[in-house]
Amino acid sequence: MKGIRLDPARGLNGIAIAELPDPGQPRAGEVRVRIHASSLNFHDYIVANNNDQKFAGRIPLSDGGGVVEAVGDGVTEFKVGDAVVSCFFPEWLDGAPTTADFLTVPGDGVDGYAQPVVVRPTAYFTHAPRGYSHAEAATLTTAGLTAWRALIVDGGLKAGDSVLVLGTGGVSIFALQIAKAMGATVIATSSKDEKLKRLSALGADHTINYKTDPAWGTTVQTLTGGRGVDHVIEVGGPGTLAQSITAVRNGGHISLIGVLTGFGGEVPTAAMMVKQVKLQGIVVGNRRHQQDFVRAIDATGLRPVIDRSFKLAELAAAFRHEESGAHFGKICVEIGD
Ligand SMILES: NC(=O)c1ccc[n+]([C@@H]2O[C@H](COP(=O)([O-])OP(=O)(O)OC[C@H]3O[C@@H](n4cnc5c(N)ncnc54)[C@H](OP(=O)(O)O)[C@@H]3O)[C@@H](O)[C@H]2O)c1
Repeated sequence: MKGIRLDPARGLNGIAIAELPDPGQPRAGEVRVRIHASSLNFHDYIVANNNDQKFAGRIPLSDGGGVVEAVGDGVTEFKVGDAVVSCFFPEWLDGAPTTADFLTVPGDGVDGYAQPVVVRPTAYFTHAPRGYSHAEAATLTTAGLTAWRALIVDGGLKAGDSVLVLGTGGVSIFALQIAKAMGATVIATSSKDEKLKRLSALGADHTINYKTDPAWGTTVQTLTGGRGVDHVIEVGGPGTLAQSITAVRNGGHISLIGVLTGFGGEVPTAAMMVKQVKLQGIVVGNRRHQQDFVRAIDATGLRPVIDRSFKLAELAAAFRHEESGAHFGKICVEIGD
C-alpha cells in the first residue's frame, strides 16, 4: 500500500509516495481502519517542514477519517462499516491533561494518517458525525476539537457571550461556527477584505481587517460598547496577544492556541493582571471531548468549511497552499484509491 514518509533534510521537497507494509489484522482491543481522508493543520506543516531527524521516516498527518474494516476480539464500541475519526491524543481519554508533549500524537511522536490502512487500539478513534464525508470528519481531530474545547469545555460559552476569532484558518472558522451555533456574537478578523465578506456570510456579526486596522483590539472594544469580548480564540501568539488583551473584557477568557507569529515574545503582564484576564494554554482535547463534540454536531448539523482537497500524492502542494495563507477554513487530503 502507498503512503508518505518524511525526509526531514529535504523538508516539503522530500515528501514523496513510499511503499508501506499492510498492517495486517487487528488483535484483541484493536480496529483495522481504512483511511479515506485527512486534513492539514499548521502543526502538520511544522512537522513536515522541519529539519529534525526525529521525524525521519515518520508518516505525517494527525487527522484521519475512515471506515472500520475489521475488529479484534473484545471490541464492542465499533463494528465493521462504522465511520470513524482519529483522536489527537489517543492516550488522553478523559479528565485533566495527562501529557505536556507530542510523543503520543499521530503524525508527530508516532506515525499518522498519510497512509490508507492502520491497525490501532480502539481509543485512537471515535465515531464520526452522522452523514459526514470522511474529509469533513477528518477536520475535527485537531482544528475542530481545539475550537470546541476552547469555547465550550474550558470557556463555558453561553448564548449572549461575545467571541473574537483571529484570521480564517481551520481553528478560527470552526470557532466562529460553534460560537454562532451556541447563540454568541462573533467578531472575526482577516488580512483580506474578500475573506471578511465570507466571514460575514458564515454569520460573523462584525469583521475587522487586522492589516489595515493594526489597533484592532481597540476596535473590538468599540464594537462591544467598551465592554470587550468574553472569549478570544488566540491563534496568533506573540504578534497578536497584546491586541487580544486589549480586546477581551475584564475577567474574560483568552485561549492561547496558536503560534502563527512565533514561539516566544513579550507578554503584557501588567495589562493582563489589571484586567484580571484568564489566559489559558490549550492543546486540542481528550477523547471524551471529541465524543461530546461529535454529539453536538449531530444535534446542530454544523458542517466544516473545506477550502480545497488534494490527493495524497499532492501533499507537498497542499502544504504550499496552506503556507500561502490563501485558504479559508480547512485544506483536506484524499487518501486511498
Ligand atoms: N493549541 C492547539 O491545540 C492548536 C490546535 C490547532 C492549531 N493550533 C495553532 O493555531 C494556529 C492556527 O492553526 P490553523 O491550523 O487554524 O492554521 P491555518 O489554517 O494555517 O491558519 C492560517 C490563517 O491564520 C491567519 N493568520 C496568520 N497570521 C495571522 C495574524 N498575525 N493575525 C491573525 N490571523 C493570522 C491567516 O488568516 P487570513 O488569511 O484571514 O489573514 C491565515 O490564513 C497555528 O499556530 C496552529 O499551530 C493550535
